[in-house]
Amino acid sequence: MTEVPRLPVPTWFVGCGNMGQAIVGGWRAAGIDLSSTVAIRPSGLPVTGVRTVAKLADAGAPPRLVILGIKPQKLDEVAPQLATWLTGRTTIVSLLAGAEAASLRKRFPTAGAIVRAMPNVTVGIRRGVIALYSEDADDKTRLELSQLFAALGFAPWMADEAKFSAVGGIAGSGPAYVARFIAALTRAGEQRGLSNEIASTIAIETVLGTGWLAAAGGESMNDVARRVASPNGTTEAGLAVLDAGLDRLVADTLDAAADRGAQLAEAARLS
Ligand SMILES: NC(=O)c1ccc[n+]([C@@H]2O[C@H](COP(=O)([O-])OP(=O)(O)OC[C@H]3O[C@@H](n4cnc5c(N)ncnc54)[C@H](OP(=O)(O)O)[C@@H]3O)[C@@H](O)[C@H]2O)c1
Repeated sequence: MTEVPRLPVPTWFVGCGNMGQAIVGGWRAAGIDLSSTVAIRPSGLPVTGVRTVAKLADAGAPPRLVILGIKPQKLDEVAPQLATWLTGRTTIVSLLAGAEAASLRKRFPTAGAIVRAMPNVTVGIRRGVIALYSEDADDKTRLELSQLFAALGFAPWMADEAKFSAVGGIAGSGPAYVARFIAALTRAGEQRGLSNEIASTIAIETVLGTGWLAAAGGESMNDVARRVASPNGTTEAGLAVLDAGLDRLVADTLDAAADRGAQLAEAARLS
């Protein structure tokens, strides 16, 4: 039996909104012990499975691991207070889109390792993708984090920060893009007289089934499409329209997200 990974004691979630709670949920589902984990969020609203407090001062013993789950725009508000709780034994895992390792190190000079993680919300059901990157984590820390994040899905370490951002652009934002595609399929079904319930179930099951088919068989997406689209048939007629614009649309979508990431990184560098 695979051993359940252990969280460093104590672990703090500094900011525990959508993404923090998805990670907590995934770790709970994996059977990871969260009894020494604290969520710090100004609202003090409870987070299922972990002790929740509104202020850092109420969190207790200084953290061995910090999962930084605030919005990037809050970094300069939170960093000075958080920095006073850190020691060389604290690993910081930042979920912040755009905040580069060097910018984080500037704000947390006394911390041990600084690691960037770019997860997506599907970590909550342990089917996530989590890109990892660090300039200073040692092998022990990397192994420990690999085990913890592998409990939530596919968790590759990236060799450089540019590739880390590339994975983040696809995986971190990806569920939102796929959700839009499912919604568009659903609307198309409704426009053809299906109820919303039937149309959305069909759209979701079709996306799930296609993903599983490709993952299970190792087929390329071209092969999958070829299996569906017979020459001069109905699907091929549909693909002719989709193919005329989809690659450009997806590239423009990722470019827009990357531009915004660059703006956030620049703001974090300057402040
Ligand atoms: N959502 C995603 O799919 C996704 C994907 C990849 C990366 N990320 C990254 O994850 C981070 C969090 O995103 P999110 O979607 O989870 O945002 P969110 O739902 O708005 O959560 C932000 C959290 O920060 C807390 N917070 C605000 N001010 C604080 C302060 N001064 N001290 C401590 N905590 C404070 C909020 O507290 P309250 O709960 O009390 O309001 C909330 O728990 C972002 O940096 C984002 O770039 C998100």
